[in-house]
Amino acid sequence: MADVYDPFDAAFQADPYPAYRRLRDDEPVHRHDDPPFWTLSRFADVWAATRDPATFSSAQGLTFHPDEIGALGLAPTLVMLDPPRHTALRRLVGHGFTPRRTAALEGTLREFVRARIADMERTAADGGTPDLHRDFSSPLPAFALAHLLGVPEADRARFGPWVRALTTLQDDGFAPASMAGDAVDAVAEMFAYFGDVIAARRAEPSDDLIGALTAAEVDGGRLTDWDVLGFCFVMVAGGTDTTANLISHGVALLDGDHAQRERLAADPSLIPGALLEFLRLEGSVQALGRTTTRPVTLHGTEIPEGAKVMMLFGSANRDEREFGPSADRLDVTRTIHRHLGFSSGAHFCIGSHLAKLQARVALEELLGAHPRVGVDLDNAERIMSPFTRGWVSLPATGIG
Ligand code: HEM
Repeated sequence: MADVYDPFDAAFQADPYPAYRRLRDDEPVHRHDDPPFWTLSRFADVWAATRDPATFSSAQGLTFHPDEIGALGLAPTLVMLDPPRHTALRRLVGHGFTPRRTAALEGTLREFVRARIADMERTAADGGTPDLHRDFSSPLPAFALAHLLGVPEADRARFGPWVRALTTLQDDGFAPASMAGDAVDAVAEMFAYFGDVIAARRAEPSDDLIGALTAAEVDGGRLTDWDVLGFCFVMVAGGTDTTANLISHGVALLDGDHAQRERLAADPSLIPGALLEFLRLEGSVQALGRTTTRPVTLHGTEIPEGAKVMMLFGSANRDEREFGPSADRLDVTRTIHRHLGFSSGAHFCIGSHLAKLQARVALEELLGAHPRVGVDLDNAERIMSPFTRGWVSLPATGIG
């Protein structure tokens, strides 16, 4: 019999929400056989797991892969550490990656976004179909990160392919079949590049993010070269496609409810709240794993020690037990007290401010210029991944 949770199935990928509902209602702790892992699908259970790293450890990685860290030949990055090592590293990283540094990017990002809108308008004027995801949402986070990290203009063209290679490997959960060839070479090239940047910043301080990270000091502790490199890796792997998909999902969701789209275009002060609603309904990160450090019994089912447990954020964020009977519906004015779009607990997304800034600027400009912007879902292509939800291609409508 088919498994109710089959993230490798195209029908599930197209619409995972009925399966999530069945899991929440009938089997809140579910065992998947091949590959072997367990799922948690209710909001309260996922929330509790993210906040209990002593039981649900990140140290074995976040996918089903039994040796995710070894597969890429990496030392553990921030996202794969447990307290207390994680706590110390996060404090140091937070010293360099501050909300002030993020906020300072707004003007530069807005200029970039306007230029991308002008590109799409030109494509439409020439009789073509602009691709909202490829031409608009995707370039923005790569640009923002390159800018933040201090990648000079001349090297920006190399940065884009590295980002794509890394996100492709990640979407596959670093599966052995994809761990060969060009993508792995591209990631190695990216590491070598940032290794050189770090060495240069150590020799000569600078005020970009890598400069700030190499200089950060808390209680006499400093970040090692690997810590800085690992942080760059997590930012690129976790901060690009996720942000792009938040923007694209937002436009797609609004195209499903034109009254709410009109409301948002007329009152951009609603956009920051709406972004959380987009993330709740169509989260860029649908699932991430932990490994149990002891047997855990939940809803009468025992999960053994050493088991991979997938926290289904995409399901938890639509749980009626948390969000009420309208949990499945878009409401850009919904008051959201807590959600799992950026996870929770020790690993709560450190880039959430940057992601929200980019998505806000993107939607303010896009809805301002084209209040009827929409998407052609019939000709769209989705990412196929158990972990992320989003687009490869999403043709735009209503531009021009
Ligand atoms: C909409 C966009 C984004 C989403 C949905 C998202 C989602 C997440 C999630 C779910 C986690 C938690 C992982 C866990 O619990 O194991 C996380 C952590 C993280 N994110 Fe994001 N993220 C986004 C954007 C960004 C951006 C823009 C950056 C930085 C440039 C970033 C950097 C990070 C880092 C460094 C961590 C690790 C934090 C830690 O382990 O302490 N993310 N993100």
